[in-house]
Amino acid sequence: MSFPKNFLWGGATAANQCEGAWNVAGKGDSISDHNRAGDRTSGTHRAFDLVIDTEKYYYPSHTGIDSYHRYKEDIALFAEMGFKVYRLSIAWTRIFPNGDEESPNEAGLQYYDDLFDELNKYGIEPLVTISHFELPFHLGKKYDGFLDKRTIGFYEKYATTLFERYKDKVKYWLTFNEINFGTMEHGKKINGLFNREYTETEQYQALHNVFIASAKAVIAGHKINPDFKIGCMLAYITMYPKTCRPEDVLKTQQVNEKFNFLCGDVQVKGAYPYFAKRYFEKNNIQLDITAEDKALLKAGTVDYYTFSYYMTTCIADDLDKREDKTGGNLFGGVANEYLETSDWGWQIDPVGLRYTLNQIYSRYEVPLMVVENGLGAFDQVEADGTINDDYRIDYFKRHIVEMNNAIDDGVDLIGYTPWGCIDLISAGTGEMSKRYGFIYVDRDDEGNGSLERSRKKSFYWYKKVIESNGEDLSV
Ligand code: BG6
Repeated sequence: MSFPKNFLWGGATAANQCEGAWNVAGKGDSISDHNRAGDRTSGTHRAFDLVIDTEKYYYPSHTGIDSYHRYKEDIALFAEMGFKVYRLSIAWTRIFPNGDEESPNEAGLQYYDDLFDELNKYGIEPLVTISHFELPFHLGKKYDGFLDKRTIGFYEKYATTLFERYKDKVKYWLTFNEINFGTMEHGKKINGLFNREYTETEQYQALHNVFIASAKAVIAGHKINPDFKIGCMLAYITMYPKTCRPEDVLKTQQVNEKFNFLCGDVQVKGAYPYFAKRYFEKNNIQLDITAEDKALLKAGTVDYYTFSYYMTTCIADDLDKREDKTGGNLFGGVANEYLETSDWGWQIDPVGLRYTLNQIYSRYEVPLMVVENGLGAFDQVEADGTINDDYRIDYFKRHIVEMNNAIDDGVDLIGYTPWGCIDLISAGTGEMSKRYGFIYVDRDDEGNGSLERSRKKSFYWYKKVIESNGEDLSV
């Protein structure tokens, strides 16, 4: 069994991590523009300034890798690798700088028109994330973001503006990046809760309002163009019980349900699962969910399911007290002695991807796409300018083998967009030195460097993989 003929090979980025030009052509500031640079230990704890002070601090999103100005060069390189699809996000604040304006910013709309035309020139299908950690800061400051139901309307207007404008240029959409971040303490900021302390009820109310915003966008999008494919996007952290002790297994099930299943169930099945309702009751989380909301969730289910997959983790009954914790993408657990870790402590688990694809598909049976996967690593530029990132090739190779195995298992996997196909700013730490790309960008953690692009060894390798539709993985 091999990859289907029309398999969507490509790569993924997000506006706030690569565009830069943070205050150009009418763009407003997003929550990401308030994140200072961090370091390897920052994780989700990067300094977030309510008032931006560029005199004093460096904010990596303000310049990114300058793809706002260099997108043509970048897209030409993606085309050279043979990309069939390019996942990018639209910066909400280029379209509605504050988020609550009456009418959109034409310069922002035109920018993405030009970008989609450039992709079209090479026959690359855009896959657009409508909101990728880029909420207009103003919506957080003034309304507490999605805690206020008016923000649902602002999002709906933003999404509808995009659907109307790009209805003939974009077919694949994702409503929110890693929506399940909203089930976590750290995820509050993403949904615009940063003015004060918030209760768990408020956290879940904001998440509920995000679900409604997503459902409304799906309904509106399908009306505008019935051919649209509108999906959800989750950070999938596969969890194994640390041991076969029933207590560890049970705890794993509970943590997994809340982190991995809750959001997917709402977005794919159109209703809260029983375990979520029980969790709300037991923890006195009282949400304002109207009958109309329930109908919207049912009517606004997604067409396909996408997720990020970098790592897996282990869960133990005494998770909170454990000392053998591991790092991770949003979510760390207990270390797995059978797995190696990246330099950032993320546990590398290719077989886990096959397991994950089967786990998700058996639950939902809708088409799946892996829209983020990759190895954040230090790269060394040799004296002759080459970058020999064999470790990255090895990572991808092993994950592609397991995707192929999952397809063989019967999973309907339609695409693969490795994360940070061009080096960009890390979302977690704000570093440049945590590199994911096939394309190297000359830029360091302090914002120095020529921004020049160059091809890594993995660039040539991935080109061959795409050319052979995943058959030729040799180095
Ligand atoms: C995902 C995000 O959580 O992981 C991306 O959707 C992010 O925005 C990626 O960049 C990798 O995480 P990091 O912290 O290494 O950038």
